[in-house]
Amino acid sequence: MTSKPPNLSRAYSLSSPEDSKRLYADWAESYDKDFVGEQGYILHLQVAQHFVASGGQGPVLDVGAGTGVCGAALRELGISEIEATDISADMLKVAAAKDVYRSLFTADLLQGLPVADNSYGGIVSSGTFTAGHVGPQAIDELARVAKPGGLIALSINAKHFGSAGFAAKFETLNGSIYDLSLTNVRIYEATTKGEHKDDQAFAAQFRKA
Ligand SMILES: C[S@@+](CC[C@H](N)C(=O)[O-])C[C@H]1O[C@@H](n2cnc3c(N)ncnc32)[C@H](O)[C@@H]1O
Repeated sequence: MTSKPPNLSRAYSLSSPEDSKRLYADWAESYDKDFVGEQGYILHLQVAQHFVASGGQGPVLDVGAGTGVCGAALRELGISEIEATDISADMLKVAAAKDVYRSLFTADLLQGLPVADNSYGGIVSSGTFTAGHVGPQAIDELARVAKPGGLIALSINAKHFGSAGFAAKFETLNGSIYDLSLTNVRIYEATTKGEHKDDQAFAAQFRKA
């Protein structure tokens, strides 16, 4: 019953996990071509590069992995042992075909991941901590499944960072995480056109205490 095509405006105005499943079911097949390719999306590259440059190691869980572009970037940078999770089975089906993940599972991050505490040496997430998707409360779940000392690298849309209260969340995590850094990065290539062309995100990194 959806009349609008899948696109960024629709993504930013999602209001529930069920909305996400509907949007990304529509978008899965064309996402790599019309969003990553034509829109010049580079946030997955930024997250993967930050993770590797800071000495991130596997096994890695890619949270909100979508079609697997961040996992593919990690693989290119020499990381193996990567797993993927996402609320959208349709997006993960596209990710599975890339053959970069050793396993993939659907889960709603807001309800909790079906994963034991202290499971992963690294966590990455690109494009999922953004308007209409997940907010600061989901960081607890990333920290829960990371091993002590594990590196967590995620992007947080800069407008969402302010409006959703990420700064206050990081304050409350003081003591349970360390080495927090926040770096401003572009979401799209400098040559991208359109109203979102200069949108920014924070590449957030920290380790679990
Ligand atoms: C903009 S896409 C980013 C995908 C990929 N990481 C990338 O950089 O291209 C956002 C992803 O977050 C997922 N997502 C949204 N809400 C979620 C939730 N509550 N739990 C898990 N994944 C969620 C969507 O299904 C979608 O695949």
